[in-house]
Amino acid sequence: MERTTVDVDGVRISFLKGRDVPLVYVHSSGCDARLWLKQLDAIGGYAIDLPNHGESGRAEINSADDYAYYVAKASERLLDRAVFAGHSLGGAVVQKVYLNYPEIVKGLILVGTGARLRVLPELLEGLKSEPEKYVDFMLDMAFARRVPEYEWVRDVFSKNVEVLRRDLEICDRFDLLEDYRSGRIRVDVPTLIIVGRDDRLTPVKYAEFFHRHIEGSRLVVIDDAGHMVMLEQPERFNEALGDFLKGLL
Ligand code: COA
Repeated sequence: MERTTVDVDGVRISFLKGRDVPLVYVHSSGCDARLWLKQLDAIGGYAIDLPNHGESGRAEINSADDYAYYVAKASERLLDRAVFAGHSLGGAVVQKVYLNYPEIVKGLILVGTGARLRVLPELLEGLKSEPEKYVDFMLDMAFARRVPEYEWVRDVFSKNVEVLRRDLEICDRFDLLEDYRSGRIRVDVPTLIIVGRDDRLTPVKYAEFFHRHIEGSRLVVIDDAGHMVMLEQPERFNEALGDFLKGLL
């Protein structure tokens, strides 16, 4: 699949590119743009490699806001306004893109993510002390079904354990729960929320929380899928994506 790259403050940012539609996908902790291959094939759009991931360059990143900066600046070079889809950590990042750069956001797609993303302390610790064992632990939590991509994700995680662990620390610090609850955050772009019914890392109640607090949002719960819902049930996932995008793009 084709790639396109842009430069943001001297950092190379690489995207996998499908059909040219204004849709930007942001991957989850320790992953890269290839997470979205099935969506790029079927729907099109641009999947970013976040800094320090895949084929993008190195940058100092300490928060979802830092990632959002690179996503927003890089996307602006390619597209005018776009729909932003994010998975897990990527979902935290696209919420920050919306809050910090609302002028470039046409819509949001929140996949297996939350308004707060606390991480099991055992997982954060274990990835330091016994990385192999805890990569397996994380994979068991992430997949409800053994799909062929399981081995690919294991390989990416295993080769980038420290990147994965740092991403999970960023998730652990991400917390907008009270801002949604109090009404300080009001999302007023069309929003689709997708979650796998058996997601153990970001359970369905996180998605229901968004649905309650984002007026007019659409919630799709996909059966027989866990956290890696776009890999586990690509056809149903793409159908939900396609329906939502009709009339938006
Ligand atoms: N949306 C809605 N509600 C949320 C939420 C979200 N994103 N995040 C937390 N909450 C709720 C919880 O459901 C809980 O409500 P309850 O008391 O009614 O059950 C409350 O807020 C407090 O939860 P939390 O902040 O998660 O703290 P905790 O001390 O109860 O649990 C963990 C901490 C790490 C054990 C827990 O967050 C967990 O199991 N996380 C999932 C596993 C994981 O590591 N995921 C990685 C995500 S990238």
